[in-house]
Amino acid sequence: MDELFKASKIAFASSYSFVIKAQNFHWNVEGMFFEPLHNLFGKIYEEVYDSIDTFAEQIRAMGTYTPASFQRLSMLTQVDDETQILDSKQMVIELYEDNEKMLKMLQILFEISENNKQYGFSDFVAGRIDAHKKHGWMLRATLK
Ligand SMILES: [Fe+2]
Repeated sequence: MDELFKASKIAFASSYSFVIKAQNFHWNVEGMFFEPLHNLFGKIYEEVYDSIDTFAEQIRAMGTYTPASFQRLSMLTQVDDETQILDSKQMVIELYEDNEKMLKMLQILFEISENNKQYGFSDFVAGRIDAHKKHGWMLRATLK
C-alpha cells in the first residue's frame, strides 16, 4: 500500500495546486477575452475544488493521513506554482499543460490503485480522469 499512499498524496497535492492555479487565472486574467476566460477558469477550479474533500476522505479511508498544510502540499505537488501574472494566452497554455500532467498522474494512480485492489478508490480516480479529459478539451479548443 505504500506506493499507493505516496501516489495518492502526490495526486491530491497536485489537484489542490491545480485549483489554486486555475483560481489565480480566474482572478487575474486581463484582456479582450476577459469574460470567457474568467468564466472558463472559474468553471475548472470549481469542478476540481468540488472533488478535493472526497479525495481527502478517500485517502483517509485507505488508512493514511491526508496532506493538509501549505508546506506539505507544496512539497508533494507536481503542478508548479505560478507567481508571475501571465498574459491571457499563456494562462491557457500553462493550465492546459498542467492539466495534461494531472491526466498522466491520475492514469498512473488508477493502475496502482487497481494493483492494490482498492476498486472504490479506482472508481473515484476514473471520475477524476474523465473530468480532467473534459477540462483538457475546453482548454485545447480555446487555444485553436
Ligand atoms: Fe469568482
